[in-house]
Amino acid sequence: MGESKITVSDALITELIEKALLMRELSYSPYSGFSVGAALLTQEGRIYGGCNIENAAYSVTICAERVAMSKAVSEGEYRFRALAVAGGKEKTPDVYSFPCGSCRQFMREFCDTESFLVIVAKSTEDYKVYTLEQLLPNSFGPEALDMG
Ligand code: THU
Repeated sequence: MGESKITVSDALITELIEKALLMRELSYSPYSGFSVGAALLTQEGRIYGGCNIENAAYSVTICAERVAMSKAVSEGEYRFRALAVAGGKEKTPDVYSFPCGSCRQFMREFCDTESFLVIVAKSTEDYKVYTLEQLLPNSFGPEALDMG
């Protein structure tokens, strides 16, 4: 990835990953055993956390990323800069847990695809950074409905 796309400082990236790892501990995932934590940085500079919340009626489950984004929007913050996500079956994530397609589309509503960063982390030392454009190319968004 081109380094010029990185618009969030290393210190903020570390802070987001730490928060995502912390949020992961709050995951309610008795059915899959796959716990996910997310931390969202808004344009205003606030950080909102989220964890996945499962349900006995499986399809009602909500992903960590969408919990974090819903918390921000419901507090009146609609513009996002970056999101860190950490997940896996083990206590220490042994996989890079990527946002699902629904979460990518949810992000698309509130982000500039070229500058919004998705940080997929195993730890503060081991992570990958993508733009939303890389994870959701040629996407459908508000502009298509003259809302951009
Ligand atoms: N999950 C997330 O929290 N985020 C994603 O982007 C992918 C999946 C959760 C949902 C479910 O609780 C568990 O991971 C297994 O799918």
